[in-house]
Amino acid sequence: MTTVAVIGQGYVGLPLAVASANAGSTVIGVEVNTSRVDQLNEGKSPVEDISDAAIAELVTAGNYSATTDFAIVSDSSIVAICVPTPLDSSSKPDLTALISATTSIGKNLKAGTLVIIESTVEPGTTRNVVLPILIKESGLSESDIDLAFSPERIDPSNKKWTIANTPKIVAGLTPKALDRTIEFYSGFVSEVTKCSSLEIAETAKLLENSFRLINISFINEIAQMCDVMGLNVNEVIDAASTKPYGFMPFYPSVGIGGHCIPIDPVYLAHAAKQAGAPSSMIDLAQKINDDRPAYFVDKASKLLGGLSGKKILVVGIAYKPNVADMRESAALPLIAGLRKAGAEVSWHDHLVGAWNSEVSAPLSGAFDLVLVVNKHDGVDLSAVGATPVIYTGYVKGQSA
Ligand SMILES: NC(=O)c1ccc[n+]([C@@H]2O[C@H](COP(=O)([O-])OP(=O)(O)OC[C@H]3O[C@@H](n4cnc5c(N)ncnc54)[C@H](O)[C@@H]3O)[C@@H](O)[C@H]2O)c1
Repeated sequence: MTTVAVIGQGYVGLPLAVASANAGSTVIGVEVNTSRVDQLNEGKSPVEDISDAAIAELVTAGNYSATTDFAIVSDSSIVAICVPTPLDSSSKPDLTALISATTSIGKNLKAGTLVIIESTVEPGTTRNVVLPILIKESGLSESDIDLAFSPERIDPSNKKWTIANTPKIVAGLTPKALDRTIEFYSGFVSEVTKCSSLEIAETAKLLENSFRLINISFINEIAQMCDVMGLNVNEVIDAASTKPYGFMPFYPSVGIGGHCIPIDPVYLAHAAKQAGAPSSMIDLAQKINDDRPAYFVDKASKLLGGLSGKKILVVGIAYKPNVADMRESAALPLIAGLRKAGAEVSWHDHLVGAWNSEVSAPLSGAFDLVLVVNKHDGVDLSAVGATPVIYTGYVKGQSA
């Protein structure tokens, strides 16, 4: 039986570990967060898309366990790296976790192990950063190491597109690494497509999320345009969406959030700047996105005749509907902006529950204004009564 080590047990690594274990491998989740390791071994899932029962069943059957110990790498024939690749304090790619994980893997690597990078990286990282560390730390030669890149496309809370039916792209350092990677994913992914080089696959992932950033920023600018012109942008989008070709709807919001779309385009723009290539579309889209919360602070201020002392309830503060994930949520600069302007801000989000030493406030009519960032399933806004409501995003039939 194949033993697979999945490094990083978060939104990407845990679903991969579960899918691989359900396909018949013995999977070890390697994680630096000790409380998460304990939680997993007790059969409790830290991510919404994986149930406690799914973990508990695999743990009980002996097909899955979690550990902090990288020594398990030496017993694994496949190692998949799913650690965070965020931005540093100066908004540059931060490879600290990837380099740390790769170093620990290298120290335990035996010849013939397939190492797959799933973390999002800029072009050249697998070949020029990961491979030299693996060679140096393991003492192996390049020909002893099978290295591949296959970006994760998981969309947390998406019930239609899952790890099993979302096509996966793969690239290998060598044809052998590529073949082994295709064989691994074909065990639990319905469609696996090969790319001709590691760099093509790395850049394709960044293109996908830059495409989303640019289009979401574009529709957010169109929303502001429609607002000024007295048009309901949601009706405009619904009307344009009837075109069966050449148009794809994107929807307005207070701004993009999550671990991918605000970050991955910065990786691509960084790579472009390093290479002396242009990235002006990404740069402008970032700026439009960053300005979006301030637009709603201004809109609220105009509606209420100033914000000083006004009681405002922000509804749905996670980065998107039906998740509890606060990473890069645009609700955070929105709340900060409202407070800076003197408003007393409460928030309601039953999925987040508690954040930043604050807790979710009940929906009620005790506010001067309600600002809806996300409407999770089951949230009933009728409790706010006649309080004015600003929808920052798309709700069919509502003005933006
Ligand atoms: N979340 C998404 O929707 C998504 C989608 C596609 C791709 N990605 C990419 O996948 C990668 C992982 O993202 P995520 O959302 O799963 O992050 P996450 O924060 O949910 O999980 C990462 C896990 O890795 C652990 N970790 C950190 N450093 C480690 C180390 N050195 N060794 C072992 N474990 C370590 C963390 O404790 C955490 O549990 C990122 O590159 C991200 O861009 C994420």
